[in-house]
Amino acid sequence: MAEEISKKTQKVGFTETVLRDANQSLIATRLPFEKFEGILTTMDKAGYYSVECWGGATFDSCLRYLNEDPWERLRKIKKAMPNTKLQMLLRGQNVLGYKHYPDDFVKTFVDRSIANGIDIIRIFDALNDLRNIQVAVEQTVKSGGIASGAISYTQSPVHSLEGFAKISVEMKKMGVKSICIKDMAGVMSPKEAYDLVSAIKDKVDLPIVLHTHCTTGLAYMTVLKAVEAGAEVIDTATSCFSGGTSQPATETLAFALSQMGYGVDLDTKVIKQVNDFFKPVKEEYVKSGLLVPKVLSTDTDALNYKIPGGMLSNLIAQLKAQNAMDKFEEVLLETPRVREDLGYPPLVTPMSQMVGVQAVTNVLQGERYKIIGKEVKAYLRGEYGKAPGEVNAELKAKALGDEKEITCRFADTLEPAIDSAKAELGDRAESIEDVLSYIAFPQQAEAYFEAREEARSKRVKYTVTKCED
Ligand code: CO
Repeated sequence: MAEEISKKTQKVGFTETVLRDANQSLIATRLPFEKFEGILTTMDKAGYYSVECWGGATFDSCLRYLNEDPWERLRKIKKAMPNTKLQMLLRGQNVLGYKHYPDDFVKTFVDRSIANGIDIIRIFDALNDLRNIQVAVEQTVKSGGIASGAISYTQSPVHSLEGFAKISVEMKKMGVKSICIKDMAGVMSPKEAYDLVSAIKDKVDLPIVLHTHCTTGLAYMTVLKAVEAGAEVIDTATSCFSGGTSQPATETLAFALSQMGYGVDLDTKVIKQVNDFFKPVKEEYVKSGLLVPKVLSTDTDALNYKIPGGMLSNLIAQLKAQNAMDKFEEVLLETPRVREDLGYPPLVTPMSQMVGVQAVTNVLQGERYKIIGKEVKAYLRGEYGKAPGEVNAELKAKALGDEKEITCRFADTLEPAIDSAKAELGDRAESIEDVLSYIAFPQQAEAYFEAREEARSKRVKYTVTKCED
């Protein structure tokens, strides 16, 4: 009885991911603004805790494939959804890329993201090196945004419940308003979720957010057990864009959790309208072949091999390209050994690529570390931050040669980027946002600026009166 009453007072918030993670996981982030523009005012009435709509790969994809200004997209979403908290994903000092940037760029990027419409910034570091999220967290708070600290979830002999709880305590001190457990590979089991949420709740009085993927089929159970342990917010995707490598379904979890007595603030009619809107959008991508059945199915290999699904398909693709699938078993054995040598980094971007490529190289060369990848060298030098565990000293000595190890925060060694980028761009940059796009993705931004210029010159030719749109 006591349990029933406490459940009734426990609210569960929903972060809808269709515009970012579901889009990124299922259709390679190719959803253009005009395909979802029509549903935004409806989504604004759903009662979501937040809508994840920016950051991650959306920024790059806008410039690279969709000929869209990502900043403009954000402003338009904000205008259509004034009552909903907009959320983005930020890779700490990597911002939206794969390498560390200087602080002037990180700070300005965070500040402009909030100025253009973002309310919540979820910030993580692939190695859980908190020095790499500090600047972004502090700037978020300073610019009036809500910082959410995300833990890159992984299992290894050097990762523990206590360790993750300690990270959460440190994050709170930095100023985050919630702790997100980020299981990007969808490998977290229901038991692990229950234990981890409980361990963090024990030490930190902040809302816990659970982020997982359906890849291995565990997600619904994992979310439920996380909620039972007290998680306040869950990431879900509208049902037609759920499952497989995406998040579990919004409507399904709203239904189940409400029935169990949890407080769910979603409007059932509205979330159905949202899904009805996206159904034909999904069908288009199925027809075009961009959405393939493989990403929608359950794949338990990641559980057997302890290697995330995305990484496993990369390994297979590399071996096939080298005509060396007969070495697959060997590579599967080598991968955890490389990870151990590197001090057990979580297998997330860019670490998963690093570990995978090195394992394949080690096997195909017939000798371990005969060739050491450029990124692995940079990692061992300290350019990505501190490894979670001890790295193999012999390997480190070999990789570094005469070069010195970086023990300080790598960003402290970087020159400021904004003024020099401004100078390079001259009047091609029309705003500080343009400069930021250019620093993040120089070639893509330049191509976009050119296309924008060209489109304008055409418009001027045929338009008599000046349009304000
Ligand atoms: Co994700």
